[in-house]
Amino acid sequence: MKLLVKSFGCQMNKLDTALVTSALEDAGFSLTESVKEADVVLINTCSVREHAEQRVLSHMGHLKHIKESRPDLVVGVIGCMAQRLGDRLLEHEAVNIVCGPAEIPQIKELITEALKEKKKSLAVTKKIRRKAPDEKSQALEEFESAYGIEDESIPAQAFVRVMRGCNNFCSYCVVPYVRGPEVSRPPEAIIEQIKKLADHGVKQITLLGQTVNSYKYKKGEKTWSLADLLDAAGNIDGVEWLRFVTSYPSEEFFDEIMQVMAGSPRVCEYLHMPAQSGSDKILHAMNRNYTGAWYLELLDRARAIVPDVSIAGDFIVGFPGETEEDFQATVDMVEKARYKNAFIFKYSPRPGTASDKRLQDTVSAEVKQRRNVELLAVQEKISDELSRDFLGKQVKVLVEGLSKKPHLNSIEGGGNPQLVARTATDYIVVFNGPVSLAGQFSDVKITKTSPLTLFAERV
Ligand code: 5AD
Ligand code: SF4
Repeated sequence: MKLLVKSFGCQMNKLDTALVTSALEDAGFSLTESVKEADVVLINTCSVREHAEQRVLSHMGHLKHIKESRPDLVVGVIGCMAQRLGDRLLEHEAVNIVCGPAEIPQIKELITEALKEKKKSLAVTKKIRRKAPDEKSQALEEFESAYGIEDESIPAQAFVRVMRGCNNFCSYCVVPYVRGPEVSRPPEAIIEQIKKLADHGVKQITLLGQTVNSYKYKKGEKTWSLADLLDAAGNIDGVEWLRFVTSYPSEEFFDEIMQVMAGSPRVCEYLHMPAQSGSDKILHAMNRNYTGAWYLELLDRARAIVPDVSIAGDFIVGFPGETEEDFQATVDMVEKARYKNAFIFKYSPRPGTASDKRLQDTVSAEVKQRRNVELLAVQEKISDELSRDFLGKQVKVLVEGLSKKPHLNSIEGGGNPQLVARTATDYIVVFNGPVSLAGQFSDVKITKTSPLTLFAERV
């Protein structure tokens, strides 16, 4: 049986895709990239913005068309849209299976049944905000540790989930409604998994959580924090680089985490900590529990402990009620924060969230677009300045593989293809070298810079 998996969305989703894929490979499926060959197509979906959902729906339209001539093709939808839309998605002509993120341990059975008998099946979590019954959490935990070692999409790198769900309820965000309440995984399960990964040759581990810095697990007398996890993981042989994403601006454990970063050569000096807005009024309406000034102080604290930490942020422009003045406060924050890079999104109302229920989407599409472009330009200038500091310097990078857009580089390769790599501080570096370097560390010298990419030569 041939399986095609298509994945949309964040790193959490990529991790789920990897888990489900390896579970199905274990069950005898082989992977294909061609719909023509596939017996089963699985789509892992994202609900964070409307645009993400539209892309999935258009893909499903395409599958519906294919199924007209191949009615036996089984189509399964997993991920956030599956949980959010449930039976409404199952009504789609193309779809056989709808399975929410907390139900993925059932995926093999669901597919086997769908292949045997042509019935539709729905597996979504009924009361998603309720703590899951023990047997369900147990099933997820077992699924995670059984299949969590196989992701080979980037050689020598792996993601390990440390927590599921989110309790923050930022007013614009659908995540708490589709991924459920915050649950931290037991530290011994996480450490065990990292050991296995290291034994398989993995060199870089990224710890994943929606608010990864709020990781908390009570074990006997001790409450484990992310700082404790990083400390323990940093002592595992073979793990050379450790990262964690995404951090929520919060005081709890913050100094401890930054101190582990300062003290452990293996914890990368990189922090992804979204601010979302620079305006206190908007932050309040977003239900983010801090002010712009406090957030900037937190960055100062991070830099006081780890002077070279590179910081990335996220912003939403055009949140309901965002005036020109509010937007200027965001511009101001971006100027002061000196991010390595910032991801900027236009507000997209999500059904069921507090901001969608209570607030009108007042900012026009044109204004959102203009603010998006303007903020990007402000950030680009800063990214460019920070990148220029690398000129002529030698840096250690971990090579990911062949560059996907090699034509953008003007540097001669001497017969070698262009590779893409990252520094510990998450800067993207491209240079020419043999493909065999994928998954290896390499020392390179930066010869040219641009806002988002550093160009280098091997030394
Ligand atoms: N509209 C626009 N952007 C959003 N994000 C989350 N929800 C929304 C939304 N409704 C952004 C936030 C978050 C990132 C993953 O996506 O900036 O940090
Ligand atoms: Fe969404 Fe806020 Fe939770 Fe992040 S912290 S997943 S933005 S609710």
